[in-house]
Amino acid sequence: MKIKVSRRAHFNAAHRLYNPKWSFEQNEEVFGKCNNPNFHGHNYELIVSVTGEIDPETGFVIDTKVLKDLIKSEVEEALDHKNLNVEVPEFKELNPTAEHIAVVIWNKLRPHIDTDKELEVTLYETPRNFVTYGG
Ligand code: NI
Repeated sequence: MKIKVSRRAHFNAAHRLYNPKWSFEQNEEVFGKCNNPNFHGHNYELIVSVTGEIDPETGFVIDTKVLKDLIKSEVEEALDHKNLNVEVPEFKELNPTAEHIAVVIWNKLRPHIDTDKELEVTLYETPRNFVTYGG
């Protein structure tokens, strides 16, 4: 029997959506206000879910304290109050869309989760826009 355990987290970050291969006009057309050269911020909401068997000794799939600390060290310390384009190495060459941020977060967390457990990341860029990545 597998069961999913989730932890919600939050971070603020700034970004600019921009494809350097395109003209400013084309970027403006595709990314609109998100192409603002002076960047803009989002209040990102993150849900990290781990699915696996319940450990018969602890009754846990994963200790939520462990998951909380992992999100803090791997995600919040790397992304919170950062300019993603400028300060986060993963986005030097990667457009920091919600899709790409979710994949980067998943890649940061995956090595720290037991291989027999599934990891899923849901990232809300706005209360209405969110993406989910499960590897
Ligand atoms: Ni944006």
